Amino acid sequence: MMILRIDFLSLVIALSQVLAIAALIDPNDYVVLRSLKDSWTHTPPNWDNDDPCVWEGIGCAGNRVVSITLASNGLEGQLSSDITGLSELQIMDLSYNKGLTGPLPTSIGNLKKLTSLILVGCGFSGAIPASVGSLPKLQYLSLNSNNFIGAIPPSIGNLSSLSWLDLADNKLTGSIPVSDESGPGLDMLFHTKHFHFGKNQLSGDIPSKLFSSNLMLVHLLLEHNQFTGSIPSTLALVKSLEVVRLDRNSLTGPVPPGINNLTSLQELFLANNALEGSLPNLTGMSSLNYIDMSNNSFDPTDIPPWFSSLQSLTTLVMEKTQLRGQLPVTLFSLPQLQTVSLKKNRINGTLDIGSSYSKQLSLIDLRSNFIDAFEHRSGYTPQIILVDNPICQEGDHESYCSIPQQTNSSYSTPMDNCSPTPCALDKTSSPNCACSYPYSGTLYFRAPSFSSYGNFSLFTSLQKKLMTTFNSQSLPVDSVSVSNPTKNIDNYLLMSLRIFPSGQDFFNRSVISSIGFMLSNQTFKPPPGFGPFFFIGDSYPYFAGSLAGAHHKSANTTVIIGVAAGGVVLLLLLVVAGVYAFRQRKRAETAAKQSNPFALWDPKANTGGVPQLKGAKSFTFDELKQSTNNFSASNDIGKGGYGTVYRGILSTGQLVAIKRAQQGSMQGGLEFKTEIELLSRVHHKNVVSLVGFCFDQGEQMLVYEYIANGTLRDSLSGKTGLRLDWIRRLRIALGAARGVQYLHDLADPPIIHRDIKSNNILLDDRLSAKVADFGLSKPMGDSERGHVTTQVKGTMGYLDPEYYMTQQLTEKSDVYSFGVLLFELLTSRTPIEKGKYIVREVKQAMDTSKDMYNLQSLLDPIVSYSTSPRSVERVVDLALRCVQESGVDRPSMSQVVKEIESIMEAAGVNPNVESASTSASHDVDSKGFNHPYSNDSLFAYSGGFTPSRLEPK
Ligand SMILES: *[C@@H]1O[C@H](CO)[C@@H](O)[C@H](O)[C@H]1NC(C)=O
Ligand SMILES: *[C@@H]1O[C@H](CO)[C@@H](O)[C@H](O)[C@H]1NC(C)=O
Ligand SMILES: *[C@@H]1O[C@H](CO)[C@@H](O)[C@H](O)[C@H]1NC(C)=O
Repeated sequence: MMILRIDFLSLVIALSQVLAIAALIDPNDYVVLRSLKDSWTHTPPNWDNDDPCVWEGIGCAGNRVVSITLASNGLEGQLSSDITGLSELQIMDLSYNKGLTGPLPTSIGNLKKLTSLILVGCGFSGAIPASVGSLPKLQYLSLNSNNFIGAIPPSIGNLSSLSWLDLADNKLTGSIPVSDESGPGLDMLFHTKHFHFGKNQLSGDIPSKLFSSNLMLVHLLLEHNQFTGSIPSTLALVKSLEVVRLDRNSLTGPVPPGINNLTSLQELFLANNALEGSLPNLTGMSSLNYIDMSNNSFDPTDIPPWFSSLQSLTTLVMEKTQLRGQLPVTLFSLPQLQTVSLKKNRINGTLDIGSSYSKQLSLIDLRSNFIDAFEHRSGYTPQIILVDNPICQEGDHESYCSIPQQTNSSYSTPMDNCSPTPCALDKTSSPNCACSYPYSGTLYFRAPSFSSYGNFSLFTSLQKKLMTTFNSQSLPVDSVSVSNPTKNIDNYLLMSLRIFPSGQDFFNRSVISSIGFMLSNQTFKPPPGFGPFFFIGDSYPYFAGSLAGAHHKSANTTVIIGVAAGGVVLLLLLVVAGVYAFRQRKRAETAAKQSNPFALWDPKANTGGVPQLKGAKSFTFDELKQSTNNFSASNDIGKGGYGTVYRGILSTGQLVAIKRAQQGSMQGGLEFKTEIELLSRVHHKNVVSLVGFCFDQGEQMLVYEYIANGTLRDSLSGKTGLRLDWIRRLRIALGAARGVQYLHDLADPPIIHRDIKSNNILLDDRLSAKVADFGLSKPMGDSERGHVTTQVKGTMGYLDPEYYMTQQLTEKSDVYSFGVLLFELLTSRTPIEKGKYIVREVKQAMDTSKDMYNLQSLLDPIVSYSTSPRSVERVVDLALRCVQESGVDRPSMSQVVKEIESIMEAAGVNPNVESASTSASHDVDSKGFNHPYSNDSLFAYSGGFTPSRLEPK
C-alpha cells in the first residue's frame, strides 16, 4: 500500500481516530444531529467536528446517541422533528435555553427509549403533543416554565414508569384528564410522585377519580389555576402526600373531613379560594409544618383546639377566615413555631404568648382583629403586629401598634475565612475569595416547611448539600453561594444561586450542562424542609473564559488595573512567542536544507528530467512571490486552516491558483514530494490539474490551474449568478462523471476520490466540470484492487453508508456520492438541508406513475420546467441506482458515464460538444462567493484530516 505522508502530528491524530472508530456515529444519528445543529444557533464550537459523539452535550453509547444535555448553553431556534430519528436517545435536557422556541414535534413519541424529557425554562410553545404518552420508559417529564398552551394530553396516563410530571408555569387550559372508556388519564399514573401543574389556566373540577389509594403521589401542586368545584374527598386516600397546594383557585364547598387522614402531610396550602363550611379539623396531622388557609369563605369558627396540638407546626397563616375567640397561650409554645399570621379575623380578648414560647417564633401578625390586651413578658419577643385592634388607640406608640418596615433577611453565603480581593472585569469573588465567572440562576422552593429566614443553618445545609452533590459527580466546583431569600407572590421561596468553578476561572460547556442537568433532573435533592424545587439557570456567556457575549461593565478602577496588568502579561507572552517562532523558523530552515528530498531536482532544470513528475513544474519562492504581487491581499482568493490560496499570473501569462501552506500545516519534505508525484500523474480535462509546486525557502506551495467559475455548489446556490439550465446540468453531470471515471479506471495508480461533492466540482469558463480536492483520495495499489480498509472520511450527506458501516472503501463509495451529486443537480438543494436528507426526501415523495415522478416540489423549478421531462426521470432513476444501499447494486462510473451520454442523446443533445464560454458574463474577480480554493480540506494541505496517513504498510 502506498503511504502518502507521515508525520508525528498526523500519527497522533491518526491514533486518536483509530481509537475513536468504535464510537463512530451511526449515520442516521449523524443526520439528525446535523439537523439539530442547523436548526439552532449558538451551538458549541466543537459541533464542527466530524464525529458528533465528541460534541459537547452529546453522549453516545457505542455508535448511538443516548443523551443530549445542553442546559444553559444559550441555544436559539426550534426543535427539529428530525430529533425523533434518535431511536436510542434516553435523556434529553435542553433546560434554561430561553431562545428555544416553537412547538415540540408531534412525532416525539418515536423516541421509545427516552427516560428523561427535560425542557425547563425554555421558550417552547404550542400544545404538548399527545405522543408524549407513547414514551413507555419516560420517568421525568419536565416541561415547566415554557409557553405551552392547550390541554394536558390524557395519553400521559399511559406513562407507567413516570415518576416526575412537571407542567407548571405554562398556559395550559382545560381540565385534568382522567381515564374513561375512551382512553387513559392521569389517575393511572400509579408510580408518579409529583404532579406539578401550578401556574397554568387549568379549569373545571379537580376530578374525584384522579385520586386513589393506589397512587404514590408525594407532591400535588395545583396552585394558581382556575379550578372550580369542591376538593374531592378521594384526596384523603392518597396517604403518601406530603405537600398539597390548591391555593389560588376558585374552589368552593367544604374541605373534605377525611383530610386529616393525611398524616404524612407537611404543607397544606388552601388559601385564596372560596372554600365554605366549617374549618377542617386537622387534629392528628402530626407532620404538618405549614398551613395557609387564608381568604376563604369558611363559616365563623371559634379558634379550633388543633391549633395547639400540631407539634410540627412552623407556620400558621389563616388571614380573613372568620376565626373568632381568644388565642390559646399553648399555641405559642409549639416547639417549632415561627410565624402566626391571623390578620382580618375576629380574634378578641387578650393576646398572651406566655413565657415558654417557641425560640423560633419570629412573627405574630394579628392586625385587624378585636384584641384589647397584650400580656407583656420580659426577654426576647418576636415581632408582634396589633395594628387595627382595640388595643392600639390613636396616638398609641407601642411598637406593636405600627407596621414595621419590611426587613427581608439578607442572607448571603459568607466568605470562608478569607478576605475577598476586588475582581477584574465581570468576575466575582467566590466564598473562597477566588475571582471567577460563576454560573448563576434562581432556586425556587415551591413549598418550604419554614417561613422564618432568620435561621441561617438552613441555608448552610443547602450549600453543603449542593457541594456534596457536585463533588459526588466530580464536577469542578470550587464553592457555591446562596443569597437573598425572598418569598414571591406565589408563596415560593426564591434564592439566588451562584456556582463557582475550580481549576480555571470559568466553566466549560460540558460542566455547565452537567450542573444544569443535576438541577433540572432533580439529581440534587435539597435538605429536608425545602420541599419541591425547581431551578432556572441563567445562560452562561463565559465558556471560553472570555467576555464574548457578556455584558461589559462600565470602566472602573478595577477594570483599568485588570486591563493594565493583562496588557503587561500579553506583551511578555508576545515577546516569548516571537523569540520562539524565530527559533523555530531557523530550525525549520536548517532542517529543510539538510534533508531536502528535492535536492536532486534542480528547480531551474527541465522537469522532464524527473520522470515521476510528469509535467509538474518546480517554482522558486521568488517566482511565485512575483506572480502574486508579493502575496498581496488583493490576490487572496481563499483562506483555510492550511493557509491561503492566491490567484497568480505566471510569467507565461497562465492564470493559476497557488495554495500556500502556513507554518504548522506543512508536511515533511518526503511526504510533500510523494503527494506531488501522485497529483502530477493525474491528467484529464475533467480533473483539476497540478501545474507545479514550490519547495523553497521553507515554503510549501502547490500551483493549480485556475478555474474561473468556482464550485458547482456556488452556482447551484445562486451565489455566482450563473444560470444552470437542465442541459447545462446534464453536461456538468457528464463531465464530473468522466472525471471520476478517469480516476477509477485510468489513473495510475487508480484513485478513489472519497469526497465527491458539489463543493469539489469546479466549473471552468465553459461550465465544464472539473473534479478537485484530493485531500481524502486513496490511491490503490494492485494488491488491494477492489477495496481498501480505512478510517471513514468524507462529507456527511455524501457518505456511502456501506463504507460507513464496514470501513471498506471501494470505488462504489464514489458512485454513491455521485448519486447524491445528481440529486443536487436535480434539486439545487444541499444533501442535508434543514435536517432533511435529500435521498430520503426523494424516495418518500416519488411516484413513478406520475409525471416527473411527482417530484416537482423537490426539483429546482428550472429542472421541473425542462422541455425533456423524460431525461429528468432517467437521471432520477440513475441517481437512485447510485445510492443503492449495497455497493454491488450500484453501477460503475463507466456505466454512469454511458447512461448520462444516452440520456443526453435521447434528449437531442450531443454529449461531446461543450457549452459556449460564460466568462464574459461572469466576474471572476468576485469575492462575493467562496472560491473553490478556500475549501479547508482541499488537497493535501488540509489542516485537519488526511486519513490516508492511517494506513499501515
Ligand atoms: C377532630 O378530630 C378529632 C380526631 O379525629 C376528634 O377527636 C375531635 O372530636 C374532632 N373535633 C371536632 C370539633 O370535630
Ligand atoms: C370574644 O368573642 C366571643 C364571640 O365571638 C364572645 O363570646 C366572647 O365573650 C368574647 N370575649 C371577649 C373577652 O370579649
Ligand atoms: C435552625 O434550624 C435547624 C435545622 O432546621 C434547627 O436544628 C435549629 O434548632 C434552628 N435554630 C434556631 C435557633 O432556631
